[in-house]
Amino acid sequence: MLRRALKQAIAGSALRDYPDRDQRELRQVIARWHGLQPEAVLPGNGAAELFTWAARDAAACGVSGLPDPGFADYRRALGCWDGALRSLPLSLSWPCTWPQPWASQAEPERCCQVLWITNPHNPTGQLWSRASLEPLLDRYPLVICDEAFLPLVPQGEAQSLLPLVATRSNLVVIRSLTKLLAIAGLRLGYAVASPERIKRWQQWRDPWPVNGLALAAGRAVMADQFGMDRWLRRVQDWVAQEGQWFHRQLMQLPGLRPMPSSANYLLLHGEVSLLQLRERVAHRGVLLRDCRSFEGLGENWLRIGLQDRGGNRRILRALKQELR
Ligand SMILES: Cc1ncc(COP(=O)(O)O)c(C=O)c1O
Repeated sequence: MLRRALKQAIAGSALRDYPDRDQRELRQVIARWHGLQPEAVLPGNGAAELFTWAARDAAACGVSGLPDPGFADYRRALGCWDGALRSLPLSLSWPCTWPQPWASQAEPERCCQVLWITNPHNPTGQLWSRASLEPLLDRYPLVICDEAFLPLVPQGEAQSLLPLVATRSNLVVIRSLTKLLAIAGLRLGYAVASPERIKRWQQWRDPWPVNGLALAAGRAVMADQFGMDRWLRRVQDWVAQEGQWFHRQLMQLPGLRPMPSSANYLLLHGEVSLLQLRERVAHRGVLLRDCRSFEGLGENWLRIGLQDRGGNRRILRALKQELR
């Protein structure tokens, strides 16, 4: 469906004409998908572009609390506006049942006016429960919830804060289609927030932030309810089945502890530095994420992205050979 839509868009006018600067049709299909009003939806050039605008509101609102270890782009976005921030350290051990209550121990009393949440969390893979997140909306003047990976998580949608946006003007939810559809090069994400906030953001951005191909692909995929449901089921089944299998296999490796994850990535903790191991498996063509750039993690941590069974076996084989 995606490739067909891209082909049609190329054969049509998507390359030649300026894209619709208001992204009207795409906003409508996203709004219909989630049962929202189109004025509450803003498509962006990936989720990353929308963090920039969320950060502008955040900087104006006060100090941002960023759970660490966490996704680095929030810091980049806040840096655009000289936004003040405070690191909120998360505990580095957690249970293997989902969803989990929000890590409230990370927030000292009245430390911040803005809370940035990632659900499921990156890089830990924890899935926070909606019931534990909802009360945060009474405590913070602004809550920004990044749900980039949520559609990939089995039963993840039940924990989404999207249904609360209509009644909570201090909530912004950001989603990424680049993850779900594996179109990181095409770039597409969307924000859901109050129509007033969305209108303000529209006045700040470039005239054509979402290109014609991304608009056409997003429109075609999200309008196809049946196809999208089928794709979501397939992706979530993969995360559930392959995730559990891979975790069990990793548990058997000496000196390594795979952390439980609800998402399509997981953290690996080593008793000693894992940097050399990472380098050695890289020579075997297996690239694992160095976690030193995550605040609070260091040399003893690596992050692994879930693959298909063949890919996961390859990762296991490389790790086993180097741990011998
Ligand atoms: C938690 C999280 N949110 C958002 C993004 C960025 O999404 P996009 O590619 O749509 O800009 C990433 C990318 O890795 C991510 O890890």
